[in-house]
Amino acid sequence: MNNQVKSKKRVAEHGEVFTNPREVSAMCDMVIQETERVDSRFLEPACGDGNFLIEILKRKLNIVRKKYQKSIYDYERFSLLAIGSLYGVELLEDNVIACRER
Ligand SMILES: C[S@@+](CC[C@H](N)C(=O)[O-])C[C@H]1O[C@@H](n2cnc3c(N)ncnc32)[C@H](O)[C@@H]1O
Repeated sequence: MNNQVKSKKRVAEHGEVFTNPREVSAMCDMVIQETERVDSRFLEPACGDGNFLIEILKRKLNIVRKKYQKSIYDYERFSLLAIGSLYGVELLEDNVIACRER
């Protein structure tokens, strides 16, 4: 197994194959304006442990850091807006837990 597959059983039963970071980044680049807009909404309907949501959140938080680092109030406010506009749906509980922790 590699780090994109946890087990053959999970692939067969749930189609669980994780996207590698290079592909996640390339796909996010296709909608780069949206990934860098702090309040853009994303819904990942089969989010796994959050590979896409985490990449998008990192991009948004980079923008928040650059734009609002001089005001703790704005920094916190826009950080919350960044994470509060990301939504994920996932079937397997261990993935849900891992995604939330990340
Ligand atoms: C191909 S993986 C993709 C995971 C993640 N999006 C990524 O690219 O790394 C598909 C995910 O969908 C989940 N899944 C399968 N059936 C589902 C369902 N009915 N509702 C929600 N999630 C489901 C699986 O558990 C698995 O984590």
